[in-house]
Amino acid sequence: MRRILVANLKGGCGKTTLATTLASALAARGDLVGLVDADRQKSALRWLKARSEALPLIAAADWTKGIEAEPKGLSHLVIDAPGGLKGDKAEDLVEIADMVVVPVLPSVFDTHSTGKFLERIEDLKAIRKGRTTIALVVNRARPRTKALNEVEVALGELGRPASATITDRGLYAELAREGRGLFDVKGKAFEPMKAQWQPLLAMIDAL
Ligand SMILES: Nc1ncnc2c1ncn2[C@@H]1O[C@H](COP(=O)(O)OP(=O)(O)O)[C@@H](O)[C@H]1O
Ligand SMILES: [Mg+2]
Repeated sequence: MRRILVANLKGGCGKTTLATTLASALAARGDLVGLVDADRQKSALRWLKARSEALPLIAAADWTKGIEAEPKGLSHLVIDAPGGLKGDKAEDLVEIADMVVVPVLPSVFDTHSTGKFLERIEDLKAIRKGRTTIALVVNRARPRTKALNEVEVALGELGRPASATITDRGLYAELAREGRGLFDVKGKAFEPMKAQWQPLLAMIDAL
């Protein structure tokens, strides 16, 4: 089983949106996926509760009080981490993850706190030994803006260019309210948005 942890220090950068969208992408192509909520705010669990049974199944696990048993028989586990991830819990979650997906907003403040987060996790054994891969994802990008350009330069300077860039679209919040992810919707109009997730999905497949 592949474990994908979505984490960063700050709240509001898109951890739950990335976790639920990735889960919807894997489930839509027939993978057996579980979504684990490790954040006390329980947004990922609420999303699963709102999800219709007619949609591809995503198993649920509540790790809001600590790392617990994993749902069995799955190919992928997507873990939605709490903001301010630190201490033992952070270490344990990173240790078990094959990949840490780090959403970054195009703002100098977010780039700064992402730098701090990377410093913290780069010391962990799983990262040092290369067992856990890090993927930075620029989230809520607005094409051709100065802010996007600046975050791209800043991530390059951190030595970790973005693995994917996800645009700012109200659709993500609309779908989330109904327990849906981008990959639960069909139609040609959504293909360009879905294409933005392909580099990340390819990295997951390469784990
Ligand atoms: N790519 C995006 N486009 C538009 N809105 C987004 C995008 N990603 C996240 N959001 C919105 O930003 C807010 C915070 O996102 P969320 O995923 O809850 O962040 P976190 O889990 O890190 O706190 C939510 O209202 C969400 O709908
Ligand atoms: Mg969240």
